[in-house]
Amino acid sequence: MKLDEIRKVTVLGCGTMGPGIAQTFAQHGYPVTVWSNVPEEHERAVKVVKTSLETFVQHDMFRSAEIEPVLKRLSFTTELEAAAGDADLVVECIVENLEIKGGLFRQLDACCKYDALIASNTSFLDIFKVTPERRQRRTVIAHWFAPPQIMPLVEVVRGPGSSEDTVDTMVALLRRAGKTPIVMQKFVPGFAINRMLRILGRETFFLLDNGYITADQLDLAVKASLAPRMMVLGLVQRYDFTGLDLSARNLENPDFLEPPLDNRPKSLFDLVEKGDFGVKTGKGFYDYSGRNYEDVLKERDDKLLKVLKSLDFLVTPEKG
Ligand SMILES: NC(=O)c1ccc[n+]([C@@H]2O[C@H](COP(=O)([O-])OP(=O)(O)OC[C@H]3O[C@@H](n4cnc5c(N)ncnc54)[C@H](O)[C@@H]3O)[C@@H](O)[C@H]2O)c1
Repeated sequence: MKLDEIRKVTVLGCGTMGPGIAQTFAQHGYPVTVWSNVPEEHERAVKVVKTSLETFVQHDMFRSAEIEPVLKRLSFTTELEAAAGDADLVVECIVENLEIKGGLFRQLDACCKYDALIASNTSFLDIFKVTPERRQRRTVIAHWFAPPQIMPLVEVVRGPGSSEDTVDTMVALLRRAGKTPIVMQKFVPGFAINRMLRILGRETFFLLDNGYITADQLDLAVKASLAPRMMVLGLVQRYDFTGLDLSARNLENPDFLEPPLDNRPKSLFDLVEKGDFGVKTGKGFYDYSGRNYEDVLKERDDKLLKVLKSLDFLVTPEKG
């Protein structure tokens, strides 16, 4: 399917990611149907999208007269066939569970148009293993970053059977929707960025669990050093500025304390066992209780949009 043949988008899943992905396509003129089995999620999504659009307006990145048209382009349903039957692009954004995603792909196979593109937002899973054979050509992973209506990157991962045409159209569509797509030539769990995050997470939980530093001090340290420098130099070019000789010697330092591989870090699992899942439950490493969900997201988005204005020239090649 070519870019101009994509006229209608369907987003399956309406949790943390679905609404922002739907908003992005609706902001770029596409009618979008959002499907989830849980009607309360629809109500929350409308509020979240409206607040997000207002935040864009406050940052002079969107016109207030456009808010209503965008909201009108969004519709919500609990009926899968009604949602996906006429879609040119289906974005799968449900719970991260291979069996459940596989079940949904089989249902989609029965109701989607033959040439519809299917893009999964999975973070780690090899969804190609559970994609029906005749859908492989038109299926990719397109992995967005939270909040998806703001963060530029989408990792497009080619499956073993994905056609060139499918990858090209997906990349072109994401560019048209204002995103910065990159292409992974083949599947590896976590793709590029979640693999980096996993390594950083290992060190984060090692430092927290062993009492070397508190969460707020670690976050402050990262914001005041790694984060802004990475925006300018990425990961690889930073070595050139540090000096490769020094970087090599640092790696060979025999006194460095390597963090052990620990996939049940105490600081994380204690919170999970208490049901403290972060912003969505009102408490995680930080306490958001007493504040409503949209306000917490808005505060984050206000800060991100300020950063994004300066990020734009770094990630948009013609402005770099
Ligand atoms: N949260 C993130 O920061 C993030 C970032 C990038 C990618 N992702 C990926 O996006 C996908 C969705 O993540 P999320 O954070 O929005 O999840 P979420 O838990 O916030 O929402 C999950 C959605 O799936 C639905 N769902 C749950 N069980 C279901 C079932 N059995 N059948 C059909 N639908 C079901 C829920 O109703 C909800 O709409 C996952 O694959 C995740 O790995 C998440």
